[in-house]
Amino acid sequence: MPARPDPHRNRNERRTLMTSLVDRKVIVVGGSSGIGLGVAEAALNGGAKLVIVGRSPEKLLAAERTLNAGRVTSVVADMTDEADVARLFDEVGPFDHLVSTAGTLPPGDPIGSTDMEAVRGFVDNKLIGAVMLSKHAVRTLKAGGSMTFTSGINKDRPPVPGGSVVSAIAGSFSYFARALALELAPTRVNVVSPGWVDTPMWDIVGEAKSSFFADMAARLPSRKIPTAADVAAAYLYLMESDFTTGETIRIDGGHNLI
Ligand SMILES: NC(=O)c1ccc[n+]([C@@H]2O[C@H](COP(=O)([O-])OP(=O)(O)OC[C@H]3O[C@@H](n4cnc5c(N)ncnc54)[C@H](OP(=O)(O)O)[C@@H]3O)[C@@H](O)[C@H]2O)c1
Repeated sequence: MPARPDPHRNRNERRTLMTSLVDRKVIVVGGSSGIGLGVAEAALNGGAKLVIVGRSPEKLLAAERTLNAGRVTSVVADMTDEADVARLFDEVGPFDHLVSTAGTLPPGDPIGSTDMEAVRGFVDNKLIGAVMLSKHAVRTLKAGGSMTFTSGINKDRPPVPGGSVVSAIAGSFSYFARALALELAPTRVNVVSPGWVDTPMWDIVGEAKSSFFADMAARLPSRKIPTAADVAAAYLYLMESDFTTGETIRIDGGHNLI
């Protein structure tokens, strides 16, 4: 009589590739808004314990209320301030995964009228911030853990004019993650590169947002603009996948193709 197929075979194979988030401690810098809040919610649904981080105590409190779970705490910290970053990891103690979605609007002036203070502020907030997070995270990041940073579509499709700085900084994350993945192995280091995502960052364009989004959606192969919850799936995959490191995952609806 032929052997019966093992009904658990596929499930067991999946277990060797993906590590569950149940009871894992996940820090989301930028978790008080937009993509970070979406990641926090998805990780909570996956059973993780969350620490959300941002500069505004009011935004963190509102996010904690939105998440409405006993497994969420928050830390007020500015990732451009090294003392704040060091205190963050001292307060949190050992943890499993670091995600950073923190960022501010990029400078967008044509190169001939570049405001150098605005450029320095942006580099501080995105790239230097990520370096400082990594520097202090390694003290308490547990074995088997990961770091995931956020770049974006501007590296593939820079706005013209004025996109050179944001393109350079967003692009630099992929190389930062590749080098760090080697240096910190077996800790995994990856990047998520979103296209346009419907988040509070877009509030700046006011009522024009719906027509901007409709025009872009019509051009995108995906034919729609994602929510933070939609792109959170990419971050979850990178936390859970034991075999993905040094990678940049685009989740841009095909924006880089058009
Ligand atoms: N939304 C999009 O269409 C899109 C597309 C591509 C890439 N991205 C990138 O994705 C990232 C997240 O975007 P989002 O749309 O989620 O923005 P968002 O809704 O404005 O959220 C940004 C988050 O980062 C935090 N933050 C900013 N600077 C910080 C700092 N110095 N230290 C600690 N926390 C800080 C903010 O909280 P506080 O202000 O309280 O600090 C907030 O929680 C950004 O880097 C953005 O460039 C976004």
